[in-house]
Amino acid sequence: MVVETVAIAIWAMLPAYIPNNVAVLAGGGRPIDGGRTLGDGKRLLGDGKTWRGTAFGTVAGIVVALLLNLLHGPFTGVTELGVPAFPIHAAVALAFGAMLGDILASFLKRRTGRERGAAFPGVDQLDFVVVSLLLTLLVATGWFLETFTLPVLVAVFVLTPVLHVSTNAIAFALGLKDEPW
Ligand code: CTP
Ligand code: MG
Repeated sequence: MVVETVAIAIWAMLPAYIPNNVAVLAGGGRPIDGGRTLGDGKRLLGDGKTWRGTAFGTVAGIVVALLLNLLHGPFTGVTELGVPAFPIHAAVALAFGAMLGDILASFLKRRTGRERGAAFPGVDQLDFVVVSLLLTLLVATGWFLETFTLPVLVAVFVLTPVLHVSTNAIAFALGLKDEPW
């Protein structure tokens, strides 16, 4: 039961988990804010949010959703777990919402005087999940309510910080990321 809930949580959130990791690998080039600063003298977003990272991250999340759909029974439309296939608008919302959450967090970090790469405990671990889920609830309401039952949502909020901290620590150890958070 718990194992099943956790499995559904991971399955349904994979299209939201992948984008940030792909952005780390694909990032670089022109920053989204084009170098602009706001009245507080701080960057709008900073050099850590690039067009390339965002685009590759979003596309990767969508592709993952489509690949997961291939694992579904062709006639039932659901997996062994009972998760309905990702409609394309749910896939886009999960993936793009994750990138958007991370971008909004950088906006908040800059406004609170945190330099690029500074840790923002709590926000760093959950920003992308919250925005990803909200956007998905908005654009794919039926799928969202069918998939994210209360126990699954609880699993998402417990698991995500654990997965986030561990994948970032691994990326740091491998030299892919400048900080371990
Ligand atoms: N990245 C990107 N575009 C994004 C998100 C991430 O290019 N939308 C890349 C950047 O190279 C970034 C790296 O992934 O440096 C790590 O992402 P993250 O930790 O979110 O950015 P930080 O550099 O730590 O910047 P910030 O303090 O704004 O979070
Ligand atoms: Mg960072």
